[in-house]
Amino acid sequence: MKLEELSVTEKAAMLSGGSEWDSRGNERAGIPSFVMSDGPHGVRRQLGAGDHLGIGASKPATCFPTAGTVANSWDPALAEKMGEALGREAHDLGVNVLLGPGMNIKRNPLCGRNFEYYSEDPQVAGRMAAGLVKGIQSNGVASCPKHFAVNSQELRRQASNSVVDERTLRELYLTGFEIMVREARPWAIMTSYNQINGTYAHENKHLLTEILRQEWGFDGTVISDWGGSDSAVAAVKAGGSLEMPSPGYTSVRELVGAVQAGTLAEADINVRAGEVAKLAERTHFEGVGRDDLMADDVAKDHHNIARHVAENTSVLLKNGSSDGKIAPVLPLKAGTRVAVVGDMAETARYQGSGSSKVNATDEENLLDQLKKIDGVEVTGYQQGYERHGGKNNVLVEDAVALAAADTTDVVVAVVGLDERSESEGLDRSTMAIPEGQNDLVKALAATGKPVVVVLVAGSPVELPWFDDVSALLYIGLSGQAGASATARVLTGAVNPSGHLAETWPLKYEDVPSSGWYPAIGRDAIYREGPFVGYRYYETAGVPVRFPFGYGLSYSEFTYYGLTSDEKGITFTVTNDSDIAGATVAQMYVRGPVGGAMRPDRELKGFKKVFLGAHETKTVTIPFDRYTFRHYDVVPGTWKTETGEREILVGDSVENLPLSTTQMVQGDIDLCPPNPVLGHYLKGQVKDVTDNEMTALFGHGVIAPGKTVVFGENDPISSWKDSRGFVARTVAKVLANKEAKVRQKTGQPDLNILFILNMPPRAMCKMTQGMIDSAMVQAVVKIANGHTFRGAGSFIAGYFRNISANKRVAKELENK
Ligand code: BGC
Repeated sequence: MKLEELSVTEKAAMLSGGSEWDSRGNERAGIPSFVMSDGPHGVRRQLGAGDHLGIGASKPATCFPTAGTVANSWDPALAEKMGEALGREAHDLGVNVLLGPGMNIKRNPLCGRNFEYYSEDPQVAGRMAAGLVKGIQSNGVASCPKHFAVNSQELRRQASNSVVDERTLRELYLTGFEIMVREARPWAIMTSYNQINGTYAHENKHLLTEILRQEWGFDGTVISDWGGSDSAVAAVKAGGSLEMPSPGYTSVRELVGAVQAGTLAEADINVRAGEVAKLAERTHFEGVGRDDLMADDVAKDHHNIARHVAENTSVLLKNGSSDGKIAPVLPLKAGTRVAVVGDMAETARYQGSGSSKVNATDEENLLDQLKKIDGVEVTGYQQGYERHGGKNNVLVEDAVALAAADTTDVVVAVVGLDERSESEGLDRSTMAIPEGQNDLVKALAATGKPVVVVLVAGSPVELPWFDDVSALLYIGLSGQAGASATARVLTGAVNPSGHLAETWPLKYEDVPSSGWYPAIGRDAIYREGPFVGYRYYETAGVPVRFPFGYGLSYSEFTYYGLTSDEKGITFTVTNDSDIAGATVAQMYVRGPVGGAMRPDRELKGFKKVFLGAHETKTVTIPFDRYTFRHYDVVPGTWKTETGEREILVGDSVENLPLSTTQMVQGDIDLCPPNPVLGHYLKGQVKDVTDNEMTALFGHGVIAPGKTVVFGENDPISSWKDSRGFVARTVAKVLANKEAKVRQKTGQPDLNILFILNMPPRAMCKMTQGMIDSAMVQAVVKIANGHTFRGAGSFIAGYFRNISANKRVAKELENK
């Protein structure tokens, strides 16, 4: 039977999930259901009822480095290789759609999920994501990149409205998705929880139909984040194909009701059901049972791939000092006697918390790996700090004694962020690592022994002891084989080649959005416009710890001979050392002078160049549709100004030894900026006035005051200000309980956090049909202090909802 011939109820049923992870198929039309599963750096195939927060058990799978770490490789081919392995595992574990990569722009270093995202720059994010998507899909498994779009904070994640000007939206927050969609053709995409300029992503026609499908040519299926849909009817009209997880039959009822009332066309339902059917068809495979596990040889093979990825991602941030006062100690010389310090050397931290958390097939730690490696001798280990605790002087003293011992030539100290700092559902509150660890590093350095710091963190941290240590190796969250990769980098078997895919500020206050991030109310106003990351620091002239694109190597490279023509640039790179290595060549574009407002320079291309000892290579980076364009908000189209551009080339945004100019023939003359933009013109976003913001946004933007009347979109956390005793108590008790659990276990309570960040409307999406939209309105009454009226309607609604759901279930069964 053809899809269109099914009843409206049957077709509507396909537009929401059948369980936590399964879609609803239709037997009469021969459409199978498909299985979705997290996630971005390892398959989290859950059995049982499942949850979307990484809490329940899942089948063992390879935990690869997280996106924020993979991005430091600047190597899309490496991401593709990792994607191939991920797709293979998904297939072998019976997963049709893999929910990743995460590719939101890192707007602020404190976002709790930054470890899951690639970069502050859309070129890096887009091209790395494209690599991963291609790799995954080469297995016949769909990749579902996320979270589309402008999802930059975890606080109020289901109830936040990202207010961003259209040009910044297009050029910064959407261009990465555009590059990925055009290059890799994903079969699915996941919408974000938040609203964008007042409309939920999953029901945003501008985003889903005008931009994604019509402009970029996306031909896949749009899936909501888990519980991220709002009105099922609005989603269908806007281009949202599938609501996940299962909202029971509540959405089916709403869709059928709307068709009957004439407010929704059956034709729209047909299109969306067609999109769901297409994904089922594209990803269908047989022969894997629900309980099947990955074969041992595949697991071993993939552990090695995870190591290979990690080896290419660690970033050498310091090796001796440029004034020669501190000698480089890396790679560790043969025979070096090493004291290993730090809890994370013994119990590795290699991934973040939340829905991306993988049940790894294997685990390593640096202490064992260093003991195993030929060439160095591990003379002792000390814990150094309490992983989740405060100061512990005894641990520091023991570590110092080991460091100072005659038998120690070099100290390798592993420090960084713990499990509670980097998690879905929770933004970090500081850019510092725990004080006890900072004290430890300072005390170790004071012994006079060379200290090599191995830094574990998915995001930038402040480094108050940076000048005192001999070397700093940033390994990010390096996956289950990260420790052996690190041991090989420290001892020189691997030459580090990672470069930072985000800027490391000196201190948090330097971050452009530090004054208004995360937004605590309904509206998250992106006041800084395009001046995010290096776009800000380079334009406003703010010094940083490490610039975007920075990374050292055991080799030295020379860049020379830059030429350009209308197709692209060519230059030469030589490896001046006796060992093979790799550099990340970056192309930035500046100008045209007198043209539209822009950051001082923007990355428009890059290439990872692998060079043998003393090898020279000629490198070409082509110009493409993204190189010279800007988004012109008045006609609402992309334009290219005719004028001269400066092209800068080097190995970080601040080390650009080569430059040339290129005349560009565009489709418009120079567009001088509106002088009312004032501070924006110099990137001084911390000083912008309301008038200047109005000029950027094209309308007035005012941060809303405290919520006084609660709606279905105000999260439970906001009820702490409710007039109603019950609502207020619920919010306070939950918040206290979460804080206690975190204190006690060292891990955030993701369930409670999810509930706190959840608005009432999501109750009807996350309870498998137990609560419908009428009952949500009853909850809203309670939130506003009408406790008894609300409770009454809730109970009456409960019985009405059960009967209505039964009727739909019966209708579907009788088909
Ligand atoms: C996360 C998604 C994830 C989904 C399913 C949501 O809470 O935001 O990234 O894919 O859960 O686990």
